Amino acid sequence: MISNARLSLRVALLTLVVVLLTGCTQWADSSLPQTTVFPLSDVARYIQNLYELIFWMAVVVFVGVEGFLLYAIIRFRRRREDEMPAQTHGNTRLEIAWTVLPSIVLLVIAIPTIPTIFAQDAIPPTASQRIKVIGHQWWWEFQYPDLGVVTANEFHLPLGETARLDLESADVVHSFWVPRVGGKMDVVPTRTNHLWFTPEKEGEFYGQCVEFCGTQHANMRVRLFVESRESFDKWVRLQRENAAAPTAGPAQQGAELFQRSACIGCHTIRGTNARAVAGPDLTHVGGRKTLAAGILDNTPENLKKWIRDPQEIKVGSKMPNLGLSDQDAGLLAAYLQSLR
Ligand code: CUA
Repeated sequence: MISNARLSLRVALLTLVVVLLTGCTQWADSSLPQTTVFPLSDVARYIQNLYELIFWMAVVVFVGVEGFLLYAIIRFRRRREDEMPAQTHGNTRLEIAWTVLPSIVLLVIAIPTIPTIFAQDAIPPTASQRIKVIGHQWWWEFQYPDLGVVTANEFHLPLGETARLDLESADVVHSFWVPRVGGKMDVVPTRTNHLWFTPEKEGEFYGQCVEFCGTQHANMRVRLFVESRESFDKWVRLQRENAAAPTAGPAQQGAELFQRSACIGCHTIRGTNARAVAGPDLTHVGGRKTLAAGILDNTPENLKKWIRDPQEIKVGSKMPNLGLSDQDAGLLAAYLQSLR
């Protein structure tokens, strides 16, 4: 009977260990998962170092406290039905110990934490990229004021160069977080918050809004592409260009339809009459990997579905259902897909 229980316990523990370990191995190399424990920038590493210190101190505290508890439970358990434990009132030595020990723990944590906070707060003068990030319900706008680039939901940075993000909000409080490269920072109306980091690995990094900001908070995603200086420059050159004007086919019909429809009331397509700024800049929307703030792959079918009825995909989205016919939605999608 007893050996059966022990065997079950062992199997359960082993299974737990295997599950925990396999959970880690897949994450170490890929740049995709949203995790802070495999940092890929200077700032992300500062945070990870603190986390590790606090984690191991917490392990020591946990083992110490629980060990002491178990010892007390076993050592001082009631052995006879009518037994009355010894009554104690106060213990000066113990009281001093449990006041002093936590103070030491907090002090040890505070010593590296304070310089980390200051280091993370001070934007290095070497920061080469300045990006204005504006949170909207429910998408992200990225402006590169020095480069004349405006884009949405996906942004690019050159590898190994310090980027400085100036965070602003167009409506409510959001919070910007791309876990593998930087800490969380709230995005607050009427003020500008800052975040900086130096990306250390090329790749595609996921992030998202981490402050509840309304119905579609969970679908307010962000993607960062870290690439070589060369590819970054190429991306910038492309982004700076005006939108291409299609000359034939469904894309051209879609372009005409776009200019006649309500789309121009909210969106900009540089090089056309569409100059509104309520929604994302669509000048190069066809070249983005995703749609609707990172929740759909950017395919003609998905784009058409989105244009047809944004409310079905993102309830509460500021983009209304315009009641477009299937054919018109298809033409608009063909046009927008051509804007690369
Ligand atoms: Cu924006 Cu949550």
